Amino acid sequence: VSSAIIRFVANPLLALALGAIVHAAPLPLMPLPSKVTLQGGKLAIDGGFSVRITGYTDAKLQLAVERLIARVGRQTGIPINAGPRAILTIDCRAAAPEYPELSEDESYQLDVAAESARLSAPTTTGALRGIETFLELIAPDADSFSVPALRIEDHPRFPWRGLSLDVARHWMPVPVIERNLDAMAAVKLNVLHWHLSDDQGFRVESKLFPKLQQLGSDGNFYTQAEIRHIVAYAAARGIRVVPEFDVPTHATSWFVGYPELASAPGPYAIERKWGIFEPLMDPSREQVFTFLDAFFGEMVALFPDRYFHIGGDELVDTQWKQNAAIQAFAAEKAFRTSTELHAYFNQRIQALLQKHGKQMIGWDEVLQPGIGTSAVIQSWRGQKALADAVRQGYRGILSFGYYLDHLQTASFHYQIDPLGNEAASLEGDQAARVLGGEACMWTEYVTEETVDSRIWPRLAAIAERLWSPADTRDIGSMYQRLAAVSRWLSWTGVQHRSNYPEMLQRLAGGSSPALLRLADVLEPQGIDERQAARQYTSRVALNRLVDAVRPESESVRGLEQDVARLVSNPGDHSREVSQVRLTFTEWSVNADRLRPLISSKFLLREASSLSEDLSKIGNIGLRSLQYLESGERPPTDWLLQQKRELDRMEQPRAEVVLAAVRPVRTLLASFSNQPARARASRDRVK
Ligand code: ACM
Repeated sequence: VSSAIIRFVANPLLALALGAIVHAAPLPLMPLPSKVTLQGGKLAIDGGFSVRITGYTDAKLQLAVERLIARVGRQTGIPINAGPRAILTIDCRAAAPEYPELSEDESYQLDVAAESARLSAPTTTGALRGIETFLELIAPDADSFSVPALRIEDHPRFPWRGLSLDVARHWMPVPVIERNLDAMAAVKLNVLHWHLSDDQGFRVESKLFPKLQQLGSDGNFYTQAEIRHIVAYAAARGIRVVPEFDVPTHATSWFVGYPELASAPGPYAIERKWGIFEPLMDPSREQVFTFLDAFFGEMVALFPDRYFHIGGDELVDTQWKQNAAIQAFAAEKAFRTSTELHAYFNQRIQALLQKHGKQMIGWDEVLQPGIGTSAVIQSWRGQKALADAVRQGYRGILSFGYYLDHLQTASFHYQIDPLGNEAASLEGDQAARVLGGEACMWTEYVTEETVDSRIWPRLAAIAERLWSPADTRDIGSMYQRLAAVSRWLSWTGVQHRSNYPEMLQRLAGGSSPALLRLADVLEPQGIDERQAARQYTSRVALNRLVDAVRPESESVRGLEQDVARLVSNPGDHSREVSQVRLTFTEWSVNADRLRPLISSKFLLREASSLSEDLSKIGNIGLRSLQYLESGERPPTDWLLQQKRELDRMEQPRAEVVLAAVRPVRTLLASFSNQPARARASRDRVK
């Protein structure tokens, strides 16, 4: 009896306590650690901030501490002059490997008290992860900058947490790579998968085969010294660098200098269009493997990682079919299909890589009979492909659902789990072969100017999926933290926030609050829609409104939350009502303010109807608020007409979507008997 009473009493208290945790702003940490225990109190951070290393130390840790102190200075704006007393003590027990390895111990424990903090870790890699957590916790309070007193125990869920970055479609200079490595380290990602060659460019200097970069890159390639620099830069941050040279597919740029590698006579030119192209390496010629053997031999000296990515995706077999020598070769080997020929090619490549001490990784398509199970399969076509691979004994990583170029919401990506859906039925050993995942940043519609804003902050949500415990799934909490983390990431140097006003100023020839108001409620379309919209090539400028606006409108999301609260109980939400009214009023007058600019700036002309529609949405919203507040039900005709208007306005134009439609739709839906169908369709996992 007594325990039942205790349960009865305890549950409401527990619910209250949990409610308080849910509603209080969560600690702005991403990825969320395995375990956080708040202790009450705080550690002040001022100019006397100093770090002491006890236990194991080496150059890697010392450099990390130097970066930590520089970041504390940057985040607080205070000049740091190490005081006499250690504020943070770092205690590592052992070295991490000089070059990071898959499955090394990345765990750490952070104890923060009123006088000092202590970061302890089995290896320096854990210390690197813990340093980022410490930095993320620094915030201003009423008295000073401080870190809350707490204990954090943390370790990753998956050992392979990556970003795949395409530097072939659009060239990404060294500083882009550096700053993104810093931001990756900040959210505890540990693999940069560097997509270094494709039809549109060959991006690495080869001394053995210099025509690769001389003729295949328009002069945009990394020298070997730059490659070494980036690999060291990443390793210092606990990040592995996995190079990808996509073969036998996506290889036009190789053939500009070396047409003899191809399955059809040249000459070849660097591809300027986007899409899937026919040029393929010739698997029937022994010289192709001799070339690749020598080339891989040169590259493995640059890339110390144990894994070497050979691409292998999207094979179109036209060149093979049309080449009599290749067909004769296939017949002689009794290959019945091009897939079997592709499998033969991959087996040869796997053997070459093994000779050079490397394990092969490739996209789904390389999973064919005869491929040794030392290969890692990167699944881009679905979670089933990943599950199939690990059932067959391969290790795999998931990229399906993590394609940043589709410009999905953070919550869409967040809900994709490498061990979800198809993989849920995997048993112990099989599940352990799911190594993690990689987000993919393909750059057909992304330049060095816009790439940060297409990666961040959404990649932080994926990083959390790959690091944090599987039950870290609260989307509301994720978004609350993501907003803070997005701002914090700017201290690492990524320009996802700073490039936005700059690009808008370029469109407007100056600063324009009215353009900012419009741009804030627009969202760009992803790769598929842009491909369908017009004929793009690598020479088309990506400097339009669609390139400037951000993948997920923070201001519309905030407004959607306000609207959801006020339709649930209008009487109780006067703050939300006045905030929403203010926004609708601003929208309603925005078109008048923006019209002169739109008619006088060539890059803004395509925004004309979007701008006019935003003001109409503002007016529909204002009228809806009046109905809501008066308790009067709007006439059915009026409702139908407004919904038709919203349907029309929701149609993309200029390759952008008017996200402002969403909160007003929710308002209108609240007048119908049917429960509001919040326009969550963007979030649905397809
Ligand atoms: C891919 O998206 N073709 C790997």
